[in-house]
Amino acid sequence: MSRRLPRLVLALVPVALLAASCRHGGVRPTVDIGTYLGGEAKLVEAQPVFGTHGMVASNSALASEAGTEILKQGGNAVDAAVATGFALAVTYPFAGNIGGGGFMNIHLADGRSAAIDYREIAPLAATRDMYVDATTGKLTNKSLVGHLASGVPGAVAGMTEALAKYGSLPLATVLAPAIRLAKDGFLVDSSLFRSLRGNRAVAQFAGKDLFFPGGQPLAVGTRLVQADLAHTLEVIAARGAAGFYTGEVAEALVAEEQRGGGIITLDDLKRYKAEWRTPIRSTYRGYTLFTMPPASSGGITMTETMNILEQFAPLPRFGSATYTHLLTEAFRRAFIDRNEKLGDPAFVKVPMEQLTSKAYAKTLAAGIDRTHATKTPAFKVAAEPEHTTHYSVADAKGNVVSTTTTLNGGYGCGVWIPKGGFFMNNEMDDFAAQPGSPNMFGLVQGEANAIVPGKRMLSAMAPTIVLDQAGKVLLVVGAAGGPRIITTTTEVILNVIEHHMSLADAMRAPRLHHQSLPDTLRYEPGAFSDAVADSLRAMGHALQRTNGLANANGIMRVNGGWIGVREPRGTGGAVGY
Ligand code: DON
Repeated sequence: MSRRLPRLVLALVPVALLAASCRHGGVRPTVDIGTYLGGEAKLVEAQPVFGTHGMVASNSALASEAGTEILKQGGNAVDAAVATGFALAVTYPFAGNIGGGGFMNIHLADGRSAAIDYREIAPLAATRDMYVDATTGKLTNKSLVGHLASGVPGAVAGMTEALAKYGSLPLATVLAPAIRLAKDGFLVDSSLFRSLRGNRAVAQFAGKDLFFPGGQPLAVGTRLVQADLAHTLEVIAARGAAGFYTGEVAEALVAEEQRGGGIITLDDLKRYKAEWRTPIRSTYRGYTLFTMPPASSGGITMTETMNILEQFAPLPRFGSATYTHLLTEAFRRAFIDRNEKLGDPAFVKVPMEQLTSKAYAKTLAAGIDRTHATKTPAFKVAAEPEHTTHYSVADAKGNVVSTTTTLNGGYGCGVWIPKGGFFMNNEMDDFAAQPGSPNMFGLVQGEANAIVPGKRMLSAMAPTIVLDQAGKVLLVVGAAGGPRIITTTTEVILNVIEHHMSLADAMRAPRLHHQSLPDTLRYEPGAFSDAVADSLRAMGHALQRTNGLANANGIMRVNGGWIGVREPRGTGGAVGY
């Protein structure tokens, strides 16, 4: 039986374009997000927002407000990021979560920098071939939908740990806006309605009564009150991470796992630990980038790409055939390494020094033919799923936080924990469930990312912080969109520092994506002219037009404050003060 891409993973973010390939070697149809969002996935104006003191940009204006509320109370950027993260779990259940995981990148005004990896891990009972049908040898869809798809959640451990180390306010204070939003409710808008309508798989599970009353997605204008989630957040406020990983919430989670054939146990939850990492520090023409190391591939792949591009000075004009070609060839080379060599550093030796070195980039750059596309060699590629959310935070002192968090698919695996009040992730699909077979994002990954109990699945999340040539924070940016996170985040940064665009223009500019395999350059309308497309084809590039590539939220420092821009193709909001 062929493995169908469930609707659950298709609705997703207002922007996501799911170009996924079938696990069985067949090519999954490229899905135009417009199909799933009533044709509304189009570029809309996102007014840049100015704040003299601080700024939060996220996929939910209510969650951004929660963050600025904490800033106004005297909280720092980490306090506000944690407040925003918990609020997203309430107001943006599509991707905001406490049943998933993520990565937070922190840069403090005093120069310190830190990163925390709160990626999910494979449960202890996970096995390498747990998603392969024993009879047919083919991949099932159990890494995507239902109880078996979840990794052990890391979000609560990561956010509470970040707050304890770098925050300044008590957890209960920081959680207050999220608890209020869950308890008092908020009005369902058309974005939430559409995301539910596109993810009907949720209605198979326990969240159906809350999110699909009478079998229909919550109507626009309904007040969504989440009493169970409010209670869970109150328990976390009182007990910290232990309130999630032990006691009544953990028991509710495990009871639902057992009821539905999942494998996460109380022991799995008790053992979960977020990991502090040293951010990758790289440079690009005098700018400094702090990016996320493994278990995310985001930082290494961006660094490798930008190091290659740095060899070409100046870069050609935006929209030209030569620029598009160079960008594509740089992404191709970085993704070839990514898909083959990266995995959880606790389990595989990642050649990070080499991959991020300028010398290595020089050899890769030397291999680029300026007039012909290189063919990606056939190989076992890796994969990525859908849905995620990025938020950026800046405070008045100049501390900044860049965070990306995910359930993977929209509403994760669809499973909602009764009494707990939250959705569980389907992050297990980020492993190479069958090394060499494409995942939901068409990524083909190798052994380095095979399933092992306790291992983190490789991510593409790339929460990034860029300092200007004087060492002051310039940009706080990241995205959702599986492997497109890496290309979009890189492009927004290049648009600002190479093409001198404002942040609003940089985010609005049409995007490109190449992930080595499939060997196709995907592009948004307007990325280049028809004449340039002809030239690119003549150079040997296969082109595919898409309607949306990723969902980014960014902040840029300007004279006198911060500019925040939410994804211009989606919803959400930047809120400053
Ligand atoms: O960690 C990752 O790379 C994926 N789970 C991210 C999924 C994603 O961005 C889906 N969103 N559009």
